[in-house]
Amino acid sequence: MGNSFRELSEFLGIEYPIFAFSHCRDVVVEVSKAGGLGVLGAGFFGPEQLKQELDWIDGHIGDRPYGVDVVIPQVYEGRDRGLSAEALEEELWRMVPPEHLAFAERLLDDHGVPKWADESRPGLFGWTLETALPCVDEALRHSGCKLIANALGTPPADVISKVKGSGRLIGALCGNKKQALAHQAAGLDFIVAQGGEGGGHTGEIGSIVLWPEIVDAVAPLPVLAAGGIANGRQMLAALSLGAAGVWTGSLWLTVEEASAHPAQKESLLRATSGDTVRTRAWTGKGARVLRNAWTEAWDAEDSPPALKMPVQGLLAADAIRRTELYAGVGRTQAVAMNICGQVIGQINEVESVRGVIFRVLSEYVDALERVNAALPGAED
Ligand SMILES: Cc1cc2nc3c(=O)[nH]c(=O)nc-3n(C[C@H](O)[C@H](O)[C@H](O)COP(=O)(O)O)c2cc1C
Repeated sequence: MGNSFRELSEFLGIEYPIFAFSHCRDVVVEVSKAGGLGVLGAGFFGPEQLKQELDWIDGHIGDRPYGVDVVIPQVYEGRDRGLSAEALEEELWRMVPPEHLAFAERLLDDHGVPKWADESRPGLFGWTLETALPCVDEALRHSGCKLIANALGTPPADVISKVKGSGRLIGALCGNKKQALAHQAAGLDFIVAQGGEGGGHTGEIGSIVLWPEIVDAVAPLPVLAAGGIANGRQMLAALSLGAAGVWTGSLWLTVEEASAHPAQKESLLRATSGDTVRTRAWTGKGARVLRNAWTEAWDAEDSPPALKMPVQGLLAADAIRRTELYAGVGRTQAVAMNICGQVIGQINEVESVRGVIFRVLSEYVDALERVNAALPGAED
């Protein structure tokens, strides 16, 4: 497949080159119904919950396609040990030092975040091969799922051939040229080039440098541009730099259909483009989130060093579940994980998914006209 939107859209059956990553099934459905491609982030789901989410999507999306995004990191603690998911989780919990647990607990207490109601330990997210593989298998049981994407590395060869063999597209995110070339060599169908300003796990190279570099490096493979896109002018920039489409995340965090707690949406709507930070404090790998008391405490020089992925994520999992459940209580937002990119500073009001898609498209058309009018003779 070549690096043009037309080929991608024909394969996927979508109208607009807008790909939307979201953990929220309602957003996925609405984006796909509006002509883009909704991609459900499965990183926080086990296979049973993913099945529920995908069954719901199947029941609401009609004949529109969608995608599923998994997290199979290339490098993480405990990889290639041949452990079952349960044994791996036990092993990883043993790697969490008591002083780290106490540090996290103190931070939550200091900000008035209520404790979890029972003594249960939060589980390991789908951030390992062992926990993500059953999610890939579940996604492949749903005929509406036409695309699988992976964060944090090239997926294993057997996953690639399984997805391709099922007639779906498989791609992966990358933050630099070396990763993009590895994705290409492994036979992926498309690449998401994510600039460092993007939300979630991200590298350090900015979008305007990264996008054309990756487009040229992997040509003719289709490249989707990610990191810093929330309006039509940014979308035009991405396509002008050679991308076949845009892959967006932060744009969907505060839409009407997003299931986030109102207090969390409020934190995001108030944030400026300077309020994010790339930190290892939540997952153990560099991820862009809103800067707050949690990130500052872990990033301080005298704090316990962040653990490696997925051990830091396991340690942070209790904070995540408590700050989600009690999002509006006390000063919870000061220690909550609010993943987002710098473009959050541009997102200041609640819109509907359909409203966002049509705003972005009409801004794109206006920007294109303005750019064309700049050519000599264009006014004649
Ligand atoms: C809340 C949130 C969670 C994310 N989680 C994942 C993830 O699990 N897997 C993934 O491939 N990308 C993830 N990302 C990155 C997005 O897929 C997308 O590449 C990124 O948001 C694009 O940059 P933008 O935020 O500037 O739009 C996440 C982004 C956000 C905002």
